Amino acid sequence: MDARVLGRAGLAVSPIGLGLAALGRPGYINLGHAADLARDYELARMEAHAHAVLDAAWEAGVRYFDAARSYGRAETFLAGWLVKRQIAPGAVTVGSKWGYTYTAGWKAQAERHEVKDHSLPTLLRQAAESREILGPYLGLYQIHSATPESGVLEDRAVLEELARLRGQGWKIGLTVTGPRQGETVRRALGVTVAGERLFDCVQATWNLLEPSAGPALEEAKAAGLGVIVKEALANGRLTARNNDPAFAARRRLEEAARFGVSLDALGLAAVLARPWVDVILSGAAAVDQLRSNLTALSVPWDQRADELARGLAESPEDYWHTRARLPWN
Ligand SMILES: NC(=O)c1ccc[n+]([C@@H]2O[C@H](COP(=O)([O-])OP(=O)(O)OC[C@H]3O[C@@H](n4cnc5c(N)ncnc54)[C@H](OP(=O)(O)O)[C@@H]3O)[C@@H](O)[C@H]2O)c1
Repeated sequence: MDARVLGRAGLAVSPIGLGLAALGRPGYINLGHAADLARDYELARMEAHAHAVLDAAWEAGVRYFDAARSYGRAETFLAGWLVKRQIAPGAVTVGSKWGYTYTAGWKAQAERHEVKDHSLPTLLRQAAESREILGPYLGLYQIHSATPESGVLEDRAVLEELARLRGQGWKIGLTVTGPRQGETVRRALGVTVAGERLFDCVQATWNLLEPSAGPALEEAKAAGLGVIVKEALANGRLTARNNDPAFAARRRLEEAARFGVSLDALGLAAVLARPWVDVILSGAAAVDQLRSNLTALSVPWDQRADELARGLAESPEDYWHTRARLPWN
């Protein structure tokens, strides 16, 4: 994979990165999460499983890794792997996030899996925790799931602390979620501290079912920010795993995939074709999924594919409503 630069963040990345949301904890909302882990949540085996996926990613040229304080042990698994494999901090880009606290107690089913809080005390606590775990590897620190309602983009104390962290060397980003992602991205583009734009990078959901943030992400790219796409396969809904008979998009995708291309590679190729994307996160929960995801790099995405894919989009409200109902497993 060719190296590229993550916008004004200036960090070296690969076009496909690896997200650790499904690798760092027993429970997640992706469709077949429990089956991916064979319901084996023993800590050392989960760590070895995560390391095997990280090894396969590294071997294939993946150079961006995405974690969060709330992904269970993701930061710890990643840091342990980087040290064990003797990967130099300058040879890799690591991003993490603050704003959710992991509360599932290492269980796949929990009353509350994570607690969202974008206040200054949470930023101070989690930034210190991430720094302690990831040390010199941590290059990008992101607000986890900003929305217009979260108020975080108007909280001057938080913004000033982020600017302070930026002054100390971290690049600063935000991830966005929900049906108003585009509005949040545009609001972030206007955030300045001491006359300087705060954000170096944005991470957003864009996939064939929910492409509504596209124009705002294009603006972010034009403004010089790095653009990372998450949930490119709609949490597994755009893969062969999705057996929901009510999922109308499947037939059309299968038609497009009949030349031996996997559904997931097709979904990722659609994102790779967007000129404003710097990094697409693979959310692979296993080595075979990662290898299948990476074949997207050689799937040509032409006008015919674009035509076949057109019409798959759901309304943002429907999409996020469906996502909110995906069961933790
Ligand atoms: N708000 C935020 O900041 C935020 C939110 C979400 C994600 N993220 C980041 O984005 C990353 C990716 O998100 P995501 O996990 O939702 O990505 P995704 O690409 O939409 O979904 C990944 C899931 O798709 C399924 N899959 C992938 N390849 C497959 C294959 N070949 N065959 C069958 N199933 C396959 C797997 O789920 P199953 O096997 O479980 O079905 C896998 O866990 C995360 O790891 C995280 O770093 C950030």
